[in-house]
Amino acid sequence: MKRTTYITAILITTVMVIVSSCDSKRQPGKIYMPDMAYSRAYETYAERNDSIFTTDADKKGDKIFYNNMPVTGTIQRGELFPFTVPNDSNGLIVLSAQIKNPMPPLNHADSLEAGRLFNINCAVCHGPKAENNGPLAPKIGGVKSIIAASPGYADGRIFFVMTYGQNNMGSYASQLDRRQRWMIVQYIRTLEPKATAAPAVVATAAKDSTAKPTVK
Ligand code: HEC
Repeated sequence: MKRTTYITAILITTVMVIVSSCDSKRQPGKIYMPDMAYSRAYETYAERNDSIFTTDADKKGDKIFYNNMPVTGTIQRGELFPFTVPNDSNGLIVLSAQIKNPMPPLNHADSLEAGRLFNINCAVCHGPKAENNGPLAPKIGGVKSIIAASPGYADGRIFFVMTYGQNNMGSYASQLDRRQRWMIVQYIRTLEPKATAAPAVVATAAKDSTAKPTVK
């Protein structure tokens, strides 16, 4: 007899739990783990209750901190790895030279695109041949010829100047994404005068088999 009472009691409780959770979705009955019922994936532009949320990082903990920004260090899918060289003279001269151009050699379509980007963004000051004779150069003042210096610059240094700017030249980091800036670096290489001395050195080295190879 006692056993039947227990079983009946358990059955009734189970039915009650099931029935109470069968309510409409908007007004659920008993919620086990509310975090799972109500997602914390906040919509970017959703209105937020100031008594619960804060955009001030110092108030983190008391309230839920949310400032619409991606988490620090986040890289957009398909985007190139961030350029981490600091904007100082050591970054310009030493560190930038250690960064390799991450792009493969440009195919025909990409070269045309790189040239288009150069002509839109750079030629106003530097002219179509990457010198210092663009139509805006006299107004800006101090414009330098890119190709006068670039053969001696590592790819990273040209990228550095585009990223941070240099004296009268502003930064192009917001106009050109990383991929586009590396494409322009490759385009500038195609404008540089072809070095005639380099093959001669290779030929001499090849003839002299006893010469130790120099790695640069
Ligand atoms: C508003 C004019 C202007 C535009 C546009 C411009 N530059 Fe410059 N650029 C300058 C000036 C001025 C300098 C000289 C900065 C200095 O005093 O060192 C310079 C210098 C440079 C240098 C360094 C040359 C050296 O001798 O160190 C590079 C590389 C360069 N520019 C690349 C670019 C590229 C690539 C673009 C396009 C993304 C570009 N510039 C767009 C004005 C401009």
